[in-house]
Amino acid sequence: MKATVFLGGGRITSALVAGLRLAKYRRPIVVYDRHSKKLQQLKRQYGVIVEPDLHRAVEAADLLIIAVRPDSVRQLLEEIGRILRPLTAVSLAAGVPLFKLRAGLGRPVRWARAMPSPVSRSGCGLTALTFGRGWPDAGRKEVRDLFLLVGPVLEIPESRFDAFTVTYSSSHGYHALAALVDAAEAIGLDARSARVAAAHALADGILAWREGKVPLDQLLQEAATPRGIAATVMNELDRSGYQQIVVRGLRAGMMQARKNARR
Ligand SMILES: NC(=O)c1ccc[n+]([C@@H]2O[C@H](COP(=O)([O-])OP(=O)(O)OC[C@H]3O[C@@H](n4cnc5c(N)ncnc54)[C@H](OP(=O)(O)O)[C@@H]3O)[C@@H](O)[C@H]2O)c1
Repeated sequence: MKATVFLGGGRITSALVAGLRLAKYRRPIVVYDRHSKKLQQLKRQYGVIVEPDLHRAVEAADLLIIAVRPDSVRQLLEEIGRILRPLTAVSLAAGVPLFKLRAGLGRPVRWARAMPSPVSRSGCGLTALTFGRGWPDAGRKEVRDLFLLVGPVLEIPESRFDAFTVTYSSSHGYHALAALVDAAEAIGLDARSARVAAAHALADGILAWREGKVPLDQLLQEAATPRGIAATVMNELDRSGYQQIVVRGLRAGMMQARKNARR
């Protein structure tokens, strides 16, 4: 049996497997993790084949997906050791560069990096991909096709991959939502109305912008009458350092990505 094999059965594996099942992905999916409880849950929920033995899991793979946290990648690759047959491997580990991955398992293994999102669970999560040199078109297509099943795919050079990773996280949306809900409650809105108002405020405009052709600054102007309430709120947020705070957050993310690369 040659399968798509996930090493690491945590959050992102669960989201990807759910999205693949939703897309009626037919190939066998094998998951390896050191926690048998997680494996059993993935088996129950998504009918994956669970493999508690690392070497047997790798042996079953013709597409290997590394889905452990960045600080676990090195040890995992050491545990696997040298692979002597051609194999396609995709790392989801944020910040871990291709040259480190290549050094891990030996020359026959062809590496790509992917940055999916837990939104893959619903079949509409974007995945960023970057390939090293020397990938044949058919190999790229195999990787692209897998992630296309769970949402759109964007190929970007590795030099921009970390900045993209830091910027592209569904956590930004959830974080903004939580902050807006809390702020709405602080000014007297009840919890339920606060969630409805905040979710629509953030999601509706962004979706309409993404699907339409109107430039963002035009939409910003349209949504905020000069000297009106929305404009007042926006101006105060900007005066209070909204933009600088976002930049500081992303810079901290870049520093973490660099730390991951050094591990
Ligand atoms: N979560 C996301 O939204 C997301 C999105 C895109 C990319 N990623 C990337 O995907 C990777 C996984 O993230 P995650 O959030 O899914 O992490 P997670 O929930 O912690 O899942 C990782 C799993 O792998 C297990 N594991 C680690 N090393 C192992 C080893 N040597 N042998 C067996 N099992 C091992 C972990 O066990 P322990 O807990 O015992 O270590 C854990 O069960 C990360 O590199 C992250 O950068 C995540």
